[in-house]
Amino acid sequence: MARILITSAIPYINGIKHLGNLVGSQLPADLYARYMRARGHEVMFICATDEHGTPAELAAAKAGKPVAEYCAEMHAVQKELSDGFRLSFDKFGRSSSPQNRALTQHFAGKLAENGLIEEVTEKQVYSVADGRFLPDRYIEGTCPNCGYDKARGDQCENCTKQLDPTDLIDPRSAISGSTDLEVRETKHLYLRQSALRDRLDAWIDSQSGWPVLTTSIAKKWLHDGDGLQDRGITRDLDWGVPVKKGDQDWPGMEGKVFYVWFDAPIEYIAATKEWADAEGLPDSAWRRWWRTDEGAGDVRYVQFMGKDNVPFHTLSFPATLMGSGEPWKLVDYIKSFNYLNYDGGQFSTSQGRGVFMDQALDILPSDYWRWWLLSHAPENSDSEFTWENFQASVNKDLADVLGNFVSRVTKFCRSKFGEEVPAGGETGPREAALIDDLARRVAAYNAHMEAMEIRKAAQELRAIWAAGNEYLQDAAPWAVFKEDPDAAAAIVRLSLNLIRLYAVLSEPFVPDAAATLRQAMHTEDAGWPDDVAAALPALPPGHAFAVPDNLFRKIADEEREDWQARFAGQRR
Ligand code: MF3
Ligand code: ZN
Repeated sequence: MARILITSAIPYINGIKHLGNLVGSQLPADLYARYMRARGHEVMFICATDEHGTPAELAAAKAGKPVAEYCAEMHAVQKELSDGFRLSFDKFGRSSSPQNRALTQHFAGKLAENGLIEEVTEKQVYSVADGRFLPDRYIEGTCPNCGYDKARGDQCENCTKQLDPTDLIDPRSAISGSTDLEVRETKHLYLRQSALRDRLDAWIDSQSGWPVLTTSIAKKWLHDGDGLQDRGITRDLDWGVPVKKGDQDWPGMEGKVFYVWFDAPIEYIAATKEWADAEGLPDSAWRRWWRTDEGAGDVRYVQFMGKDNVPFHTLSFPATLMGSGEPWKLVDYIKSFNYLNYDGGQFSTSQGRGVFMDQALDILPSDYWRWWLLSHAPENSDSEFTWENFQASVNKDLADVLGNFVSRVTKFCRSKFGEEVPAGGETGPREAALIDDLARRVAAYNAHMEAMEIRKAAQELRAIWAAGNEYLQDAAPWAVFKEDPDAAAAIVRLSLNLIRLYAVLSEPFVPDAAATLRQAMHTEDAGWPDDVAAALPALPPGHAFAVPDNLFRKIADEEREDWQARFAGQRR
C-alpha cells in the first residue's frame, strides 16, 4: 500500500466554473483519487477555493457585498457543486483560512531569513479620494493606442495592448471614478527566484517521465530571455494575507497583503491542516503528508492543472518550498491539460458561453458529464465539446452498451429464474475466451489509470463493457433456455457477476451508476479484480439481486437542439 497525495489547482472564487475548468483539473484528479483508493492505497485528495486578489474584490463589489461575505457564499456554492459532481476531496478548503494566513506568513519569514526576499521601492498610482493605491484593474482611462475610453490599467480590452497604469489618458479610479490621482512611491517585496534558478533547473532535470507539456513550459520560463525573473509577491490591497515575517510585523509593509499567486499554492498545505483541524487530529496528521522529515518521504505527490498554471507549479511554488530551507514535500508528477473548447469557439465566463457546473447538473446527472468529459479530456491537444458528440457518447456508451447490458441480464434472469443468481450448468470455451479477453483488458485499464492516460483508460473501460454485451448477444441465453435451461443459467450467472465487476471498474468514472449497480447486486464487495477469473464467481448461486431502474436515459434530438440554443451565450 502506497501513500498518494493528490492536489487539484484551486478554482478562483469569483463565479461558478464551466465544464472546461472542471475537466482541466478537478475532475481528472478525482478520477485518479478514486482509482487509487479502490486499489487500496492511502489517499489525501485536496482542493480549495482561491479567494484573494483583485478579481475577488471586484466580483464582490459587483455583487454589492463585503468581500469576506461574498467569498463565504461563493465557497458554499462551489462546495455544493463539487459535491454534485461527486468530487471526492478529503478537504475542499479556503485560501482565506487562518491556517493559510499563518503558513503563508511562515514561508515569507523563512524566505526572508534566507536572503531570498528583496524590498523594492516603486511608483504606483494613488487615489486621494479613495485613500488607496490602484493596482492593475482598479484604474481606468482612455487607451493611448486606440482611444477606447474604458481601458484598464493592465490592458486595453478593445485593442488588447498591454498597458501601464501611467500610460492611460484621463485616468480615473474604477472604484469611485475620481480623477484626483497622483503617482506615489510604495514598497514591495520581490521573491528572488533568479537565485534559485540552478536548483530549480537541476530539480526539473532529475524528474523522470514528466509529460512534455509540463517540462517544455517550465524550461521555456527558465531559459527564455533573462531566465527566471524575480517576482513581486505583495500588493497594496486590503483583501489578502497581511504581509508579516512569520508572526512578526514587517516594517514598512503595514497595510499590504501578499499577491494571490504567492498564497494560493500554499493553500494545498494549509487545506490539509484545515482537514486535520476539522477532524480534531493533531498536526502530525497533516505533516506526515507534507514534511519529508515527518513521514512524507514515502508519499507520492501528484498535481493536476491546466497548462496556464504550469509555470507557477514547476517554478514559483517549488521556489517557495525550496527557498524556505525546510524539508517540504515537492511534487513528484504534474499532470497538465490543454483547453476544452465549446461548440466551435471557446468557453467564456465573461460572455456566459458554454455550460457551467450548475447548469450541467440542472439538465442531467453528474455521471453523464463525467463520462463525456473524462473520455474526451484535452490531454494531448485542445478538444471540443459539441452537443452532437455528447449525445452520441451518452446514447451509445452509457445507454446502449453499459445500461442495456445490465437491463437485459437482470430482466431476463428475473423472468426465467427469479431474482437470485441461478444455479446449474457449466461454462465452456466461449466463457474462457471472454475471461481471457477481460483479463487482458483489465490489465491495460489498470496500466492506463496508473499512467493517468485518461482517454485511453476510458476507451478500455468502454471495450470492457462492450465485451460483455457481445458475449451476451453471442451466447443468447434466451434461445438456449428453450433447449437447455441449465446452460442458460450458467450464462446468466456469469453475466450477473460481470455487472458486479463493472460496478467496481467503472466507479472512478461513473460513481453513481456504480453505486446503483452494487446495490442492485446486493453486494458491498468493491474488491478490485486483480485476477478476473478469480473475481468473477463472487456472487454465488442463490445470491439475491434486484433489477435496477434504468441506469441511463437517452438524449433525444429535440433536447439536444434545445440545449444547444440555450447555451450559445449570454448567461445572465
Ligand atoms: N485559481 C487558479 C486558476 O484557476 C489556480 C490556482 S492553483 C494554485 O487558474 F496552485 F495556486 F493553488
Ligand atoms: Zn486600446
